[in-house]
Amino acid sequence: MMGIVFKLILLILLLCPLTINSSFQYLTFVQQWPRGYCTDNPANPNRCQRNPLPTVFTIHGLWPGNFTKILQNCTSSPYTSLRTFQDWNNRNLRWPDLTKPSPTAQTFRQEKFQSFWRHEWTKHGTCSENMYPQATYFSRTIQLSQRHNILNYLATSNIRPGSNPTVSSVNSTIYKAISNHVPDLMCVTPPRQTPVLVEIGICFNATMTTIIDCPSGFLRTRSCGTNTISFPA
Ligand SMILES: *[C@@H]1O[C@H](CO)[C@@H](O)[C@H](O)[C@H]1NC(C)=O
Ligand SMILES: *[C@@H]1O[C@H](CO)[C@@H](O)[C@H](O)[C@H]1NC(C)=O
Ligand SMILES: *[C@@H]1O[C@H](CO)[C@@H](O)[C@H](O)[C@H]1NC(C)=O
Ligand SMILES: *[C@@H]1O[C@H](CO)[C@@H](O)[C@H](O)[C@H]1NC(C)=O
Repeated sequence: MMGIVFKLILLILLLCPLTINSSFQYLTFVQQWPRGYCTDNPANPNRCQRNPLPTVFTIHGLWPGNFTKILQNCTSSPYTSLRTFQDWNNRNLRWPDLTKPSPTAQTFRQEKFQSFWRHEWTKHGTCSENMYPQATYFSRTIQLSQRHNILNYLATSNIRPGSNPTVSSVNSTIYKAISNHVPDLMCVTPPRQTPVLVEIGICFNATMTTIIDCPSGFLRTRSCGTNTISFPA
């Protein structure tokens, strides 16, 4: 009897990875520096219409991956639009679409005012839907931003907006702040200028209970060069 139960459990465990169509193993939580993302991007200097820009790091997204591939567009599960202006504002507080102006209570239902969240859900969120249904995916991501305040982390090394820190000082400050784990930094370099800090990613295991080193194969830290970077105010 025990043998049959054991074999059955083994069979279920073996079949499990085949039945879920996205087997992510970790998550990269990415926050962006609005001034870096908006002002100093050479590809599109006028990309942001949000005014005023937030003066804190805001959420870009939460990206499920496995260790060999960055997962994208895993299912056709549709994005569920927020229906109340209050819900819109609550999500916008930490996860704003900087490319759009702020809507009013009359205009927030327009498609464009949720297109950033729709994009993040369909491209990334669908790849962890087996563990994080949509409402959970958004709320857990917002919780992570409440727990990981990048400005506070950088301030511990006296790295503040309007300075030109070295990549290694930013890297090692975040590394220490997240209990000795490798973060993922991303910079954009305008022609003949210093790389500008745009994003900082922190990686978590699949249950989001443990911070892990961001996998070396997908690190974007090289985009920041090896010297000083701009952290614009
Ligand atoms: C990662 O995902 C890809 C695409 O779904 C899959 O082909 C690959 O086997 C996965 N790797 C691991 C280690 O799960
Ligand atoms: C996922 O969809 C987005 C938006 O349509 C597209 O830009 C991206 O290339 C797709 N990624 C993959 C891996 O198919
Ligand atoms: C970031 O810090 C970690 C830990 O000190 C180190 O292993 C890694 O090489 C550093 N990366 C850069 C680009 O400084
Ligand atoms: C994540 O880490 C915690 C603590 O080490 C562990 O209990 C949990 O099983 C891990 N989750 C996954 C999916 O690896």
